[in-house]
Amino acid sequence: MSTATTDAQTKTATISVEGQTIELPVIVGTENEKAIDISTLRSSTGYITYDDGFKNTGSCQSEVTFIDGEKGILRYRGIPIEELAEKSNFVETAYLIIYGKLPSKVELDRFTHQIADHTPLHEQAYHAIEGFSSSANPMAVLSGMINVIAGYAPPLSGEDPEAEFQSSVARLLGKAASICAATYRKAIGKSRVETLRDTAYAHNFLHQMFADPGSKYQADPDVARALDVILLLHADHEQNCSTSTVRMVGSSQANLYASVAAGVCALWGPLHGGANVKVLKMLAEIKTSGATIEEVIKRAKDKDDPFRLFGFGHRVYKNFDPRAKILKASADKVLSKMGKDDELLDIARKLEDVALNDPYFVDRKLYPNVDFYSGIIMRAMGIPVDLFTVMFAMGRMPGWIANWKEVHDNPKSVIYRPRQVYQGPTINRYIAIEDRS
Ligand code: SDX
Repeated sequence: MSTATTDAQTKTATISVEGQTIELPVIVGTENEKAIDISTLRSSTGYITYDDGFKNTGSCQSEVTFIDGEKGILRYRGIPIEELAEKSNFVETAYLIIYGKLPSKVELDRFTHQIADHTPLHEQAYHAIEGFSSSANPMAVLSGMINVIAGYAPPLSGEDPEAEFQSSVARLLGKAASICAATYRKAIGKSRVETLRDTAYAHNFLHQMFADPGSKYQADPDVARALDVILLLHADHEQNCSTSTVRMVGSSQANLYASVAAGVCALWGPLHGGANVKVLKMLAEIKTSGATIEEVIKRAKDKDDPFRLFGFGHRVYKNFDPRAKILKASADKVLSKMGKDDELLDIARKLEDVALNDPYFVDRKLYPNVDFYSGIIMRAMGIPVDLFTVMFAMGRMPGWIANWKEVHDNPKSVIYRPRQVYQGPTINRYIAIEDRS
């Protein structure tokens, strides 16, 4: 029989197990989150903890992003996402997330120009993209190309680590967009276009995607702004699956590119960043099948049916995803601006209305997440569905970089190596093949 009590005043937790009682320190975060530090649990009691999916386990202490899932709060370095979405832009927010403060004008100009300088790919890197089949998943291309571009970067001398880090940051932010655009143009058989230097990040990306050779793509400012906000909203999200992967890989002292490439692969999954693709395919399937909203909701609730309502639910948000709120408003604005009346948006809205009044979803606190509306906006911009998760990766790049840096700069950093509870065969013997049945 074991019991655990926390004495907030003395900041300790008491665990009694098998007649033994130990005191464990309690860590309190700046937003008053409390954690029991179990670092000495196994050496003191022989016990480890078990927490499937790490639903109750803090893997690190971080200063980058704060989420309050019950209140629908998301802040990058303390600044609410709503303020940044209204007043900032992706590049400035990337600087905030990575370097921990809003940049001065000089710092922002230098950062912007560094990204512009590093946006074009090395000529041979374009050949590497040619090596992928035209039908290759864009996330496969992105994850592979991140280690390819590392190979074209100057060898790290260690003489000026901060300058080398800043170059790597600019390289990853700039080239992620170029890799995405080059992958798209290859798939549609269009030659690439050169990047524009003095053009805002999102506008330059749309130019790289849609410009005809020799001309400049004239993106509607509202559309470019909406894309910039989508990237900004995806920029970080504390210890989600892909960011935890970046930290895990970085904890072995793997370099930034290798760690980020691993994060891209983690994001790929349909339960994580791949959900934005699944949402659009789900909405399109509902439209073509003619299934009623009630039938779709019934399937989502049916435990015997593998179908789930993609774009709904979240491990942390149990009230609403503040990003989904902003994107829902943006979807209305972009579609009306582009004069597009999207049936899929109507289906999405009806799904949300019905689900939010259904006890199954209400009891399980399932609300639209960041992926529910983002794809509708990107589709209206002409971005193909298969690129949606790459767009998510482009947006998440600052958060991955900032988290890798926290691990890399922490002198007390240790390699991530979880324990397990072994459930396999107890002691066994080798049997010669002639004696096996
Ligand atoms: C992202 O972590 C992050 O921060 C991620 C992210 C980020 O910015 O990095 O926010 C980005 O990944 C957003 C989530 C995108 N994924 C989807 O939209 C896929 C659909 N959603 C689910 O698969 C699910 O909600 C998760 C994966 C998002 C969360 O899963 P959890 O926390 O492990 O919750 P769960 O699977 O244990 O679900 C709890 C209950 C279960 O029912 P019961 O067993 O209690 O009866 O809710 C049900 C689930 O079956 N449920 C759903 C559902 N999501 C959860 N039922 C139907 N449809 C859904 N979408």
